[in-house]
Amino acid sequence: MAAFTSPQVLLVTLLVAGTAIWAAVSLARARRSLNASRREVDRLAQELDGRLREHARAQESLQVALSSERELLELKSRFVALVSHEFRTPLGIIMSAVELLKNYRDRLPLESRQELLEDILVSTRRMAGLMEQVLLLGRVDAGKVAAQPVPLDLSDLLGRIADEQRSATGARCPIVLDLADHGTLLGARADAGLLRHILSNLVSNAVKYSPAGAEVRLTARRDGPDAVLAVTDRGIGIPEADQARLFEAFHRATNVGEIPGSGLGLLIVKRCVDLHGGRITVRSKAGAGTAFEVRLPLYAPAADDAVR
Ligand SMILES: Nc1ncnc2c1ncn2[C@@H]1O[C@H](COP(=O)(O)OP(=O)(O)OP(=O)(O)O)[C@@H](O)[C@H]1O
Ligand SMILES: [Mg+2]
Repeated sequence: MAAFTSPQVLLVTLLVAGTAIWAAVSLARARRSLNASRREVDRLAQELDGRLREHARAQESLQVALSSERELLELKSRFVALVSHEFRTPLGIIMSAVELLKNYRDRLPLESRQELLEDILVSTRRMAGLMEQVLLLGRVDAGKVAAQPVPLDLSDLLGRIADEQRSATGARCPIVLDLADHGTLLGARADAGLLRHILSNLVSNAVKYSPAGAEVRLTARRDGPDAVLAVTDRGIGIPEADQARLFEAFHRATNVGEIPGSGLGLLIVKRCVDLHGGRITVRSKAGAGTAFEVRLPLYAPAADDAVR
């Protein structure tokens, strides 16, 4: 019995107990430090994740900026190509016609003189037309053009536009008006200026891209609150690959050959249709013809009607 109570046994027991306590305390400390390290690792992982996401976002906006920069550059080079071609060609024609008239006026037969004067007129009109298009687009894109619909006689306006286009295109193609009866089309509210830009571009395209003598149709009908206007031709048509890019600045289809143009007309049409709250669609087949349809809410009740 004495052996169990000896100081040595007590000391050993105390030592074992002390070691156990020390081990438990150390373990708890180690656990705490492990937990703290885990939390730190989690925090770092979250921070890294956030930074990676930030980096991806920055890369995305860099890509967007780069692609709009590329688009802008492409637009600029297309504009330079257009200006040099579309201005140089008519200017060259004018200069040579003027030189011929200046040097040989008295020796030239009357007919040749008339032809040279006509060349000057056509080329001057072409340059003036391009200037007008660029200026109009500039005003539209600066937000300086707004639709101002007023009550008007749609049949009458379409008749006048068809007449103007017949004379502007030297009656190259018959322009047939196919309108729903006058009563149905009465009551329209439209911005005559915008309508004129839309239809004169569509009709002049239809004539320009058709063989002489091929019929061009301008039709109008009413569909509830909308006027549905269509311009149809039997001309060269638009290849499918070009159809998606028709309303882009300076884009011309691959089948235009020598037919002159700047590729701005349809962009103006689209802008004017948008300003008038409408939609435009195209159906076309290369070699067979083209139909543009414009749907405009010309019979929708005006905002101030609701107040009255
Ligand atoms: N009725 C059509 N028939 C065939 N191709 C057409 C027709 N209308 C438009 N296109 C094609 O769409 C392109 C863009 O037309 P858009 O009117 O914008 O330009 P453009 O006629 O070339 O020049 P402009 O700015 O002088 O009108 C044309 O170059 C042509 O390739
Ligand atoms: Mg055109």
